[in-house]
Amino acid sequence: TENGTSVNGEGDTLDKRMTEGEHEDTLTTRQGHPVQDNQNIRTVGNRGPATLENYHFIEKISHFDRERIPERVVHARGAGAHGYFETYGKVGDEPVSKYTRAKVFEGAGKQTPVFVRFSSVIHGGHSPETLRDPRGFAVKFYTEDGNWDLVGNNLKIFFIRDAIKFPDMIHAFKPDPVTNRQDSERFFDFCSNSPEATHMVTFVYSPWGIPANYRQMQGSGVNTYKWVNKEGKAVLVKYHWEPKQGIKNLTQQEAEEIQAKNFNHATQDLYEAIENGDYPEWELFVQILSDDDHPELDFDPLDDTKIWPKDQIPWLPVGKMVLNKNPENYFAEVEQAAFGTGVLVDGLDFSDDKMLQGRTFSYSDTQRYRVGPNYLQLPINAPKKHVATNQRDGQMAYYVDKAPGQNPHINYEPSSLGGLKEAPPSGKEYTPHIEGNLVHEKIDRTNDFKQAGETYRAFDDVERDDLIRNLVDGLAPCKPIIQEKMIEYFTKADEDYGRRVAEGLKKRGNTDHHGPLGATETKETVEKAKDMGHD
Ligand code: HEM
Repeated sequence: TENGTSVNGEGDTLDKRMTEGEHEDTLTTRQGHPVQDNQNIRTVGNRGPATLENYHFIEKISHFDRERIPERVVHARGAGAHGYFETYGKVGDEPVSKYTRAKVFEGAGKQTPVFVRFSSVIHGGHSPETLRDPRGFAVKFYTEDGNWDLVGNNLKIFFIRDAIKFPDMIHAFKPDPVTNRQDSERFFDFCSNSPEATHMVTFVYSPWGIPANYRQMQGSGVNTYKWVNKEGKAVLVKYHWEPKQGIKNLTQQEAEEIQAKNFNHATQDLYEAIENGDYPEWELFVQILSDDDHPELDFDPLDDTKIWPKDQIPWLPVGKMVLNKNPENYFAEVEQAAFGTGVLVDGLDFSDDKMLQGRTFSYSDTQRYRVGPNYLQLPINAPKKHVATNQRDGQMAYYVDKAPGQNPHINYEPSSLGGLKEAPPSGKEYTPHIEGNLVHEKIDRTNDFKQAGETYRAFDDVERDDLIRNLVDGLAPCKPIIQEKMIEYFTKADEDYGRRVAEGLKKRGNTDHHGPLGATETKETVEKAKDMGHD
């Protein structure tokens, strides 16, 4: 390429000469020095001491010392795969261009490469994949207009509706800073002071809080976005992925049985399905609403604690996604992948959803820290299209993303000397009119409990029984003030719901066992069989 190395990082123009006696499979240092002894460090005599100029040893060990990067502050445990998205060119029966000018949706049958990362949320990079948690469902579309990330979860709603509460929520759900153990009392302490979480708690404590694997779960954008057409007209949209493999969730007991034997079962399931050519597939649906407040609804369409009911706002198919290739290197592709809600293409836009706006700051901010300021030059994150910016330098700058033939001196704009130029408009600009006082206020239509009750009643008996059992397990060690508030919220959602949790707790009695979310208590400890020291 113009840049001296290949844009996809393979360095294909680098000189591949070899020194005498060297072959293609000869081990070298990163400096290109052939390594003649990889078993013995250099020492004074064969019993040491070692000397400090051992270049090969020091390069090897000091690189090893730096192998880990900070893991994601949330969603640290995950698995990824490559594939493609194929558009139907239509949304339901209508041409998709009526609502959006995004090229990714144009032309029935057109395929766009994607990379997907599935994840759990709370615990670290190698935590069990059977834990009660929402699951992340993040999709990067490498479109002809540049990248589009749809950073979603398996569930359609969220615990909170205002981004300012997110760090507190995650602190409460993560391990206690003193004991380093997740504690359901912290979880319910937060939720009992955040009534808007009642609907999400109802999902997460049911089998929907433990999807059986990544292939058999839905996905949802959760937050409300916009579509913008050529005329600059917008609508509100929500996105949903529906698995062709069907949906499968686990009861707490089923999860415990799997976890006893395998704490990587979801990663294994995804990898093996793709290796065996059994490619998982999802259909993408959207729900569309006109771009206004919708006073006729009993909830706010920008409130991510609410489902947009299917019977009022239909799911319209727009395309499908197939995952057909495993990553070749977990770290390079899955760990370094960086998704963000700010990554939209022309024809897609943000809504005023306050969570979405907060998220949009957070993702690229954390990635500049977690991966580094040039994270977008890494092959997994770089768009698969022309990139030309005047951004320069920074840690680990790998190439200069200038245009072919661009005057290399001109790293600014505007210029008459051969620099980059602005693009022509792609359609009429979308210019929403916004006015109001700046305030710190929650939305008017909070309606925190109605949909939680509807979800409770929509569960089948197995789901409802598991939900009650898990809530009783999780609430038993909590202080009465927390139990009482949660029972009040469940009762407001549905009388039977509140009554069953209250009765379960009365029967169970208060326990001191502060454990993870909803896990059944272990009563016995296993005695150590014998001392393993050699005596
Ligand atoms: C990951 C922030 C809400 C889905 C992350 C990360 C941060 C973050 C900092 C780590 C990103 C990285 O290191 O690359 C926030 C904030 C939120 C919020 C501040 C609320 C204000 C949500 C919601 C969803 C969601 C509502 C679901 C729609 C995800 C997913 C990932 C993630 C799927 C993992 C992406 C991956 O696989 O790399 N979030 N998040 N987040 N978040 Fe959120």
